[in-house]
Amino acid sequence: MIEELPIADWRGPYDTGLKARALAALEAGSVLYFPKLPFRLLEAEGEFLDARVADGKAKNISLDHTSGKMQASSLTGERAARLAAMIERFGASAAALVHDLLPYRDVERARTSFRPVQVKGRSYSRISDDRLLHIDAFPSRPMHGRRILRFFANVAPNSPRHWHVGQPFEEFAKAFLPRVGPHLPGKSWLYDKLGVTRGKRSLYDELMLSLHDAGKLDSDFQSGSPHQDVRFAPGTCWLVFTDQVLHAALGGEFALEQTFHLDIDQMAAPERAPLRVLERLSGKTLA
Ligand code: SIN
Ligand code: FE
Repeated sequence: MIEELPIADWRGPYDTGLKARALAALEAGSVLYFPKLPFRLLEAEGEFLDARVADGKAKNISLDHTSGKMQASSLTGERAARLAAMIERFGASAAALVHDLLPYRDVERARTSFRPVQVKGRSYSRISDDRLLHIDAFPSRPMHGRRILRFFANVAPNSPRHWHVGQPFEEFAKAFLPRVGPHLPGKSWLYDKLGVTRGKRSLYDELMLSLHDAGKLDSDFQSGSPHQDVRFAPGTCWLVFTDQVLHAALGGEFALEQTFHLDIDQMAAPERAPLRVLERLSGKTLA
């Protein structure tokens, strides 16, 4: 479930055999782990390793690289600009690596985030508690089957980022699909009209959200389902399709994260995409 890659440079060209191994493992639902790839902060950026740089309301500080707008930080002025520059430098590095490592030619670089708050002590509702095993699904951003690919860096000086990685997507979907109720046909239309979602949710989006919620709400699943205990060391990175790989973040502080979206026809094996797996299991067209 964890595929270690000896990459130590943020730019390719990378070895052909290594690229093939990365692609196969990633699409099969492994986490690509880069233990020799630290994302280095500038000396002056050390001051951002402090939970108080967050505004205390949102989980993460996020940066929209197209507008340069940063959200949920308590910083202002020159310090805010330097924090945004740090997040942007990470996002651009992650995008370069993904471009050089994988054959996907049309990858959309979405939001970049900085996560400066210790995971362990946070308290949230069950549905938004990412310390519980889940697959990622966006409530307000319909994906219509497009993939969610995420690149993480642990920039904490000492503490590992502690994850659980769960069973394969298909096993999870098989167990939970029969338990998710029918979706009300008018709901996705209404949510779009009300501005709850950006565009209309597809059946795929409704199903993924239902699976996300049902898994988090099921205590037996949380305590009893098979999972691997993983600790991503300080100064390492990892890359994973979080819409496919069950994951929970149990502890750690100071991570950076870059999200990518891609169409499933970019994949070497589109039949492994959650959309195709759910369509096979349900016998329906979902997007
Ligand atoms: C998540 O995607 O569930 C959280 C991952 C993390 O912040 O380590
Ligand atoms: Fe998640």
